[in-house]
Amino acid sequence: MTSSLNSLRLGVNIDHVATIRNARGGRHPDPLRAAHLAVEAGADGITAHLREDRRHISDSDIARLKSELTRPLNLEMAATPEMLAIALRHVPNACCLVPERREERTTEGGLDVVGQRRSLAPVVADLKAAGIRVSLFIEPDLAAIEAAAGLNADIVELHTGAYCEYAAADDATGTAAELGRLARAASEAAARGLEVHAGHGLTFNTVAALARMPEVVELNIGHFLIGEAIFGGLHAAVRRMRALMDEARFKASGRVIA
Ligand code: PXP
Repeated sequence: MTSSLNSLRLGVNIDHVATIRNARGGRHPDPLRAAHLAVEAGADGITAHLREDRRHISDSDIARLKSELTRPLNLEMAATPEMLAIALRHVPNACCLVPERREERTTEGGLDVVGQRRSLAPVVADLKAAGIRVSLFIEPDLAAIEAAAGLNADIVELHTGAYCEYAAADDATGTAAELGRLARAASEAAARGLEVHAGHGLTFNTVAALARMPEVVELNIGHFLIGEAIFGGLHAAVRRMRALMDEARFKASGRVIA
């Protein structure tokens, strides 16, 4: 992504625009249009997760994002041969390797970098050889950070899900403990030369604590933003529909009278 190293970048995850589109099939709402809007509003990059079951983002979404986006694309994917081939075909700016289980609703927990070191190594190497920056989505713990550094990853993305769950439950002790873990992990990772990103479950209420951590250079945020966009946008959409209906009815009745 493009901003300077000291600034905090925002990657907007547009997966759930595709979730809504796929509920009906067809093309609306188009994730690419959402990506352009996000960039216009200040996003530094766009993130999309091509899941093995294609439940939201599709292969053609990735092709269109890559060819039409004016900002860097961060492709989230499982470290499988199929996904590796797709990444090498499109060459996004970055690939974020995530764990993936079909039955999960969202990415639960970080990658087991320690246990899967041997299977991850060739995937990381192939992506890097193609000029793609490699990010590993991990729990904020030291063993995972050391393994990520050992694999020569460029970036670690720290999983903020547990922090956000404690915060949503108003559990001050849990929230503080998780924030402490994230802060320690951010500084351990930066000390090992890894670029530090963070994300998962972030909201207006939880983003500031991460934004204050100096080592964190990018936040990736999706579900909450797409949900909020409904509330920000529904008023205008309903007003426009109301106006179109009223205008058409008025004109039609005018013609009858004339
Ligand atoms: N980072 C990673 C690696 C993710 O897998 C996700 C979810 O797709 C996010 C960030 C964004 O999480 P959320 O949609 O909860 O904001």
